[in-house]
Amino acid sequence: AADATDAIDRLCAVVPDFPSPGIVFRDLTPVFSDARAFRAVVDAVAEPFAGSFDAVAGVEARGFLLAAAVAYATGTGVVTVRKAGKLPRAVYSASYDLEYGQATLELHQSDLPAGARVLVLDDVLATGGTLVAACALLEQAGAVVAGCGVVLELGDLGGRASLAGRNVHALRTV
Ligand code: PRP
Ligand code: HPA
Repeated sequence: AADATDAIDRLCAVVPDFPSPGIVFRDLTPVFSDARAFRAVVDAVAEPFAGSFDAVAGVEARGFLLAAAVAYATGTGVVTVRKAGKLPRAVYSASYDLEYGQATLELHQSDLPAGARVLVLDDVLATGGTLVAACALLEQAGAVVAGCGVVLELGDLGGRASLAGRNVHALRTV
């Protein structure tokens, strides 16, 4: 995990005024594009939840990268929690507020067996709206949320509090 934390500090790009004025955007794509950093981050993000999940859910878009890699590494399956209108079959839907707007997430109703224990992954925890919505969708679908893993938590946006009662792990908090 020390490798992962170091890589995040070294490689995460900090972008002022993206996607709108006043927002300081933390861009983890340079962490994902570095081979050693990506491996360290994928291993470390799954480690606190070892043995506690049967499937991984990735949140569009950057959560997909983590979820697919963790599922492959742990021999589990992966499901996608997607922005509205992308999934072709019957979905559950949840709307939520973002630091910089509003969005709706969807999950196929029948992608998971009832009672599946699911690890939910995303790159950044900010206000928590995204992960709260993702967890709600998984529970509507009859899954059990094993926990939420993120690479980076933006500590002053209150995401942790909005996920109170859930098992949340961040590799780094800024
Ligand atoms: C970002 C990030 C998380 C979410 C965190 O995604 O990747 O999914 O915001 O914010 P929150 O904790 O305040 O909900 P974004 O909605 O920008 O979408 P993208 O990954 O499709 O670019
Ligand atoms: N980076 C990535 N996703 C985000 C951010 C950020 O700084 N803030 C809210 N979602």
